[in-house]
Formats: sequence, C-alpha cells, structure tokens
Amino acid sequence: MATMRMRTSTSPHFPSFFVVSFSVLFSSVLSETRNFLPIGFTLSVEDSDFLTSPDKTFTCGFYGMGENAYWFSVWFTNSMDRTVVWMANRDTPVNGQGSRISLRKDGAMVLTDVDGSTIWESNTTSTDVSKAELLDSGNLVLKDSRGKIFWQSFDFPTDTLLPHQVFTKSTKLISRLGRGTYSSGYFSFFFDNNNVLTLLYDGPDISSIYWPNPDFNVFANGRTNYNSSRIAVFDELGNFLSSDLLQFSASDMGFGIRRRLTMDYDGNLRLYSLNNETGLWVTTWEAMLEPCKVHGICGKNGICVYTPEPKCSCPPGYEVTEPGNWNKGCKPKFIQTCSRSQQVTFVQVPQVDFYGFDLNYSQSISRDSCLKLCLEDCRCAAFSYRLSGEGLCYTKSALFNGYRSPDFPGSIYLKLPASVGRFESANLNGTDPICGLNDSMIMMGSPSMYDSISKGVRWAYLYWFAFSIGVLEILFIVSAWWFFGRHDMPDSMEEGYRAITSQFRKFSYTELKKATKNFKEEIGRGGSGAVYKGVLVDERAVAVKRLEGSYQGEDVFWAEVSTIGKINHMNLVRMWGFCSEASHRLLVYEYMENQSLDKHLFSTSSLGWKERFQVALGTAKGLAYLHHECLEWVIHCDVKPENILLDTEFEPKISDFGLAKLSQRGSSNSEFSRIRGTKGYMAPEWALNLPITAKVDVYSYGVVILEVVKGIRLSNWIREDGEAQESELTRFVRVMKRKIKCGEESWIEEIVDPRLDGKYSRRQAKKIVEVGISCVEEDRNERPTMDSIVQALLECEDPSSVFATVL
Ligand SMILES: *[C@@H]1O[C@H](CO)[C@@H](O)[C@H](O)[C@H]1NC(C)=O
Ligand SMILES: *[C@@H]1O[C@H](CO)[C@@H](O)[C@H](O)[C@H]1NC(C)=O
Ligand SMILES: *[C@@H]1O[C@H](CO)[C@@H](O)[C@H](O)[C@H]1NC(C)=O
Ligand SMILES: *[C@@H]1O[C@H](CO)[C@@H](O)[C@H](O)[C@H]1NC(C)=O
Ligand SMILES: *[C@@H]1O[C@H](CO)[C@@H](O)[C@H](O)[C@H]1NC(C)=O
Ligand SMILES: *[C@@H]1O[C@H](CO)[C@@H](O)[C@H](O)[C@H]1NC(C)=O
Repeated sequence: MATMRMRTSTSPHFPSFFVVSFSVLFSSVLSETRNFLPIGFTLSVEDSDFLTSPDKTFTCGFYGMGENAYWFSVWFTNSMDRTVVWMANRDTPVNGQGSRISLRKDGAMVLTDVDGSTIWESNTTSTDVSKAELLDSGNLVLKDSRGKIFWQSFDFPTDTLLPHQVFTKSTKLISRLGRGTYSSGYFSFFFDNNNVLTLLYDGPDISSIYWPNPDFNVFANGRTNYNSSRIAVFDELGNFLSSDLLQFSASDMGFGIRRRLTMDYDGNLRLYSLNNETGLWVTTWEAMLEPCKVHGICGKNGICVYTPEPKCSCPPGYEVTEPGNWNKGCKPKFIQTCSRSQQVTFVQVPQVDFYGFDLNYSQSISRDSCLKLCLEDCRCAAFSYRLSGEGLCYTKSALFNGYRSPDFPGSIYLKLPASVGRFESANLNGTDPICGLNDSMIMMGSPSMYDSISKGVRWAYLYWFAFSIGVLEILFIVSAWWFFGRHDMPDSMEEGYRAITSQFRKFSYTELKKATKNFKEEIGRGGSGAVYKGVLVDERAVAVKRLEGSYQGEDVFWAEVSTIGKINHMNLVRMWGFCSEASHRLLVYEYMENQSLDKHLFSTSSLGWKERFQVALGTAKGLAYLHHECLEWVIHCDVKPENILLDTEFEPKISDFGLAKLSQRGSSNSEFSRIRGTKGYMAPEWALNLPITAKVDVYSYGVVILEVVKGIRLSNWIREDGEAQESELTRFVRVMKRKIKCGEESWIEEIVDPRLDGKYSRRQAKKIVEVGISCVEEDRNERPTMDSIVQALLECEDPSSVFATVL
C-alpha cells in the first residue's frame, strides 16, 4: 500500500504556498550560500546543495522533476518556474539518490549516477584547475587561481542563450522535446553552411529550414552570407547582432532586466524578459510571427490551423496516424494506386498550402490544366493552385509542413479515390487528441497543440511528467492563479463546464458533506486519499473519494476531471462528478456493492472459479479500452486488487484511472520510497528510470491475474539469505517456467488456489497462468498488449466449461 506522504490539507492553497515558499526562503538564507566548488569537492543530489551566483540571480545544482529524474543545471533563482538555462545531462537524467557532481583533483568536473557510471564530464584535465564557479552572468566556469578559464558552460548551450554568451559556428540551441521534458527535441537554431542564422526542423521523416523565410533568398531576408566569422552576441539592453546582419531588439530595451533567448519546443525562437515582480517571463521578440509556418509541427500530411491558437488537423481523406502524437502526422484512409481504373476526385481545401516536395511548378496556367498535370502524374498526391496574378501551379509528391492561413491566396487540391473523396468535406477543425472529445470540453492550461509535439512511445511518459512538475512550482502556479485568475474566471467557462453532460457534474462541498454524513463511513483508503460511502439527494449510492495532497488549480482540475468523466466502459468505474472548492478536491464515483478484489481474494471467503475468470477477462477489457480505444496514453499506473472493484454480479470495474495526471506529485525523495513500497505490482521500468508506457499496466495486470489463480499475494517481498532479495513473484515465475518447459503435467494443480477444491476449468487456468507469466516479462517489449490478452482469454471463455469442471 502506498504510504501517505502529503499532509491532509484543509487550508486553502494560498496560505500553504506562503508556508512553503517562506520555508524555502529561510532555509536558503540560513544555509551558507556559496558561488564556487573547490577542487576535490562534491555536490550530491540528496543534500540539495547549490551554488548561487554572487548577485543571487542564478543557481546551479541538481534540478529535479517528475518521479526520479535529476539534471545538473543552472537556473534562474527568482523566476516562478525556476527556468533552466543550461543542463549538463539533458538527455540522460540521473537518479534522485546517490548521484553526484565532483570536481576531481585532476581538474575534470564529472557527473556520476547512483551506480557510479559517468554520465557527463567536462573533459578538462589540468591540475591547475582550482574551482568551479558560478558567475553573475549565469556562466559556470572551471578556473585556476589566477582566473584563467579552462571550461565554461557558455560554450555548450542547451536551448537558451544569455546576455554576453557568444554564439559561434560551433554552438547550437536545440529545443526541448516538449513541455515537461528536457531532452533534445526537433528544432534547432544555428549558423548554417552559408553563414546564415537558421531555424531548422529535423524530425523523424523530414528535415526542413523554415527561418529565415525559405521563399526568399538570403538578401531579400535582410541577411548576408558574405561574412564567414559566424558570430552573434546579445547584450543586457536586449540588442541582438549577428555577423549575417540579423539584428533585433527587445521591445522593452533597457538596462536592469533579466533576459534570455530560447529555442522553444514549439519551434519558435523567443527573447524573454523577466518581470521582477511576478517572476513570469514576457516575450519581447519572436522569430516566427505565424506559428503555423514552423515546419514539421503537425507531421506528415498534417495541417496546422489557427483556432485561433495553433492546432493540428488532418486533411480530408486522411486520419491521425497515432492519436496523441502529431509527429506521426496523418495517414491516408485509402490505398493509392496508379491504375487507370481507379476513379479519382480532387477535394479543394481553401487557404491551405503544403511547403516543399514540388514535382513541378508551372506559371500562367489554368486550374484545369494544373489538375490535369496532377491527374496524369502518378506520383502526384495533391496540387496547390494560387490565384494571385497569373495562376501558379505546384504539383506535390508528398504533403509536409501544411498550414492554413487567411492570407494564402489559393487552395490545395487533394487527389483522392472517388470512393473516398465523395464523402469528404474540407472541414479542418484542430483536434485535441484526448479520447475523441470535442475541443470545447477540454481546457488545458495552454495551447494544447504543444502537448502533442513529442516522440511516439514517450507521449504518455511526457504527459505524465508534464503534470508532475515539482510541488513548489505548482504552488507558484496555484498562487499565481490566486492572484490573477481566481476571481476573474469567465462566466462562459463555468457555463461550459456545467453543460458537459447531465450525467457528469460539479458538486458543491456542502452537498457531498451532507451525502456522506460528514464523511462518516470510510470504505477504503488508497494512495490518493480516503473513500467514503454516501447517498445523493436522488438516492443514488456513491463512493466519494477525498483527494489528499496538492492538486492543480480549479480550472485545470475541472478540465482533467471532466475528461475522465467522459470515459465510459462496462469494466471501468463510472465517475459521476467532482467537487473543487478552495483546497477541497473530491471525486464522486458509482458505488460498488462488493468492494474491491483483495477483500475477496485474500480473505477467508474466497471467490469461485467463474468469478475469477470473469475478473481476469473484465479487467483486461477495461485496460484494453483505456490503452487502445481511448487513445494510447491513458495509462492507469496503479493496477492492483485494491483498484479492481466488483459489482453485485462480480463483474470487475477498474477504479482510479486517470488520477496519475491529476495529482501534482512532488519531486522529493519520499516519492522514491513510495515507488519501492508498492513495487510488488510495479514494472521494472519504474526503478530503471525508463519511459513509462502502457506496458507497465500489462505487468501489473499479470501480477494480479496470477494472484487471482493462486489466491495469495505474490506481490510481497521476501528476503532470502541475507542480501539477495527475490520477490515471491520472481520465484514463482522462475519455478513455473521451469515446470512448463520440462513438460511437467501437474503444474496446474499445484498452483490453483486449493480453496477451490478442484472446482475450476483446467483449460482456463492454464491460459491465465500463461498470459500472466508473459505479462511479467522484464523486457516490456516481450509483454503482450491488453488487446491481445482479451483475445486470448475470449478464446477460452467457454460457458460449458465454466462450472465445476474437474480436469
Ligand atoms: C567529453 O568527451 C566525450 C568523449 O569524447 C564527449 O562525448 C562529451 O560530449 C565531451 N563533453 C563535453 C562537455 O564536451
Ligand atoms: C563580420 O561580422 C563581425 C561581427 O559582426 C564583424 O566584426 C566583422 O567586421 C564582419 N566582417 C566583415 C568583413 O564585414
Ligand atoms: C524591477 O525592475 C525595475 C526596472 O525594470 C526596477 O526599477 C525595480 O527596482 C525592480 N524591482 C525590484 C524589486 O528589484
Ligand atoms: C513540368 O511540366 C511541364 C509541362 O507543363 C513539362 O514539360 C515538364 O517536363 C515538367 N517537368 C517535370 C520535371 O516533370
Ligand atoms: C468546424 O469549424 C467550423 C467553423 O470553423 C464550424 O462551423 C463547424 O461546425 C465545425 N465542425 C465541427 C464538427 O465542430
Ligand atoms: C461534439 O459535439 C457535437 C455537438 O456538441 C456532437 O454532436 C458530437 O457528437 C460531439 N463529438 C464527439 C466526438 O463527442
């Protein structure tokens, strides 16, 4: 069982924010602040030791995020979100325990992980190095006693350039992959081979320069390629000057303002100023005034549209390749053939163009001639026709970098098989890939398109992490919301939420207090809070979960919860509503008569075989729905018997799904121990710091169904001969694998719960055990998907064999 970490908060967030921020403040004032690390010394991740620049603007140390990921970084001390300006190990975070950065005697600064492996090093070997020092500029330098610099972080920028940090031919800013991650993304800023500062999209399918405007030549863009010194600087006033004649200034030009130039994960390069009162960043210049013209943002065949914030959409005849991952773009709903017999039709999509991949370019021709060119060329997937002046015709072999702009004086005409094209309309509404819901029901904190820019399998991981940024950060956000947003929530937004459905609604705290008779009857308690029985005014029995810990501000919370409320499946517990008032966060679920699986499985009253098989199959169906039908990223992350509830017919219903993204988990070490505490059901990925995919649920499901067959907990830890630790599960799986391999006939009889007294289907038990063992494979790629598990179990769902079949 998860240990309770968060305090039960009944006070509003506002005061708690101050308590936390003041305590942080005091501890940093009291602890000795220093700006250098002497040779031979070490900073360790657990001690939260920092270097602080003399004027306190920058801090250097371990920056943590999510469950257990730390980066050796430099960040702005006083910005609300502790904006990181430099990272040593952006693509390989280290463990929250045992990792350290050392300035070795030989002059090298070295970052090591818990296992002692070197993650990063400064590659300096000079015994003259005497210290690592954090300067007021934000530069971390290794220098000798006379001040000579041997290494500096300014020479190795990540995604941010600071005033006085010189940008050269050997430096490059590379964006983050997305919000909530620091690993390298697809967008970069650098001097190209022609000496011109450039923005490049370098994605899985294509690589394409989008700034300066690729439609014009270097000089028309106000640049030059003659000066090969390739050097750029920006100063404290906010002036940027480059050897290619690129020159710009911040809109708030002047002294005394903290600035940074960042290659953002949405492909835009922005200059920011720090507002020293709010701690928030204000954009004072940006490279792309039209964000949809950033290349690659919606993937292959995708189209970026303004709604008005930029979102991604698929053209008619195409559909999303991988929901939730726009890097994969859209795929055709048809098979393109060149046979003459295939009737084709052209669907016009106004104001849309795709950049690049032109087969042919013709001037002064009519639209019909252009159409004919595309029709006769088998490679042509679409043509673009512009009405401005004489007709311009471009035939396209592939569709990339699509965007819709009211200024575009033309249309794209997609070549589709007549059978498909006939039914397609040119309606491009940007999609938020969340369970196929309407946009109007989803309100994210910021333009949701940004959520979609990420790599395939990591999506879920990112999403999960995006919502588990450090507690402090969240408190800042919450407090900012208290300051600025709280009392100004537009009525229209409230209306929108109320209108979601009649089934799902917002409850008031008083209402729920009354329904539960002041939270009298506690029927369960889990990692996220206690559950109480209640009866609503309309006499429906409900289970009210009172969330503990810190949660998002009301607006984001509402949006998230209403998304969960929309998920409806026979094997998932239905959420009827929620309450979000001041610090109260409650969820209202349908009430389950027979409580949770563990109460039946591990107690004296045990379940019959029919029910057990039903539990295995139903749970698989519920998870398959979350993983596959309701878009890939809905990962439960906490599948265990306590979270599988049983209705009056003993049909299983999974509870607590979607909560992983609601809570704002801390980044502290206690989280580390929480993971270990429930390790019995947790896939090895958690401990190994690997990306979390749907396969973690498959693992947990495997443990659960093995327990269902065996009737005892396998998730317990046991200790064998001193140090060597082996879980009950590992031992069980090892023994079973050997027996199956050796063809021992009696293995089924040995493991099925003796309380069943031989009354079970041998065929079904065998299947469940086989499935269970394959689910708990260490290598997640070897584990089956929930879909295939459902198929496997359905094949042996034979009513005649269900009842009391002996052998
Ligand atoms: C140090 O050298 C290694 C191996 O050549 C290289 O991979 C690494 O990027 C270098 N580190 C820095 C900070 O230059
Ligand atoms: C090239 O650019 C640098 C930096 O802007 C400048 O100092 C230098 O004079 C330029 N060289 C020429 C030949 O214009
Ligand atoms: C904030 O910055 C302004 C200059 O933009 C300065 O005048 C003011 O004193 C600063 N406030 C604080 C608290 O540092
Ligand atoms: C482009 O189209 C013209 C006819 O408009 C044709 O003569 C020419 O060969 C085409 N070029 C290519 C590369 O297909
Ligand atoms: C798509 O957007 C248009 C206006 O931009 C609107 O008229 C239409 O109803 C929308 N379609 C859907 C399915 O929401
Ligand atoms: C979106 O909303 C419209 C009207 O509000 C409704 O007709 C449509 O079914 C909804 N689409 C989805 C996918 O829920």
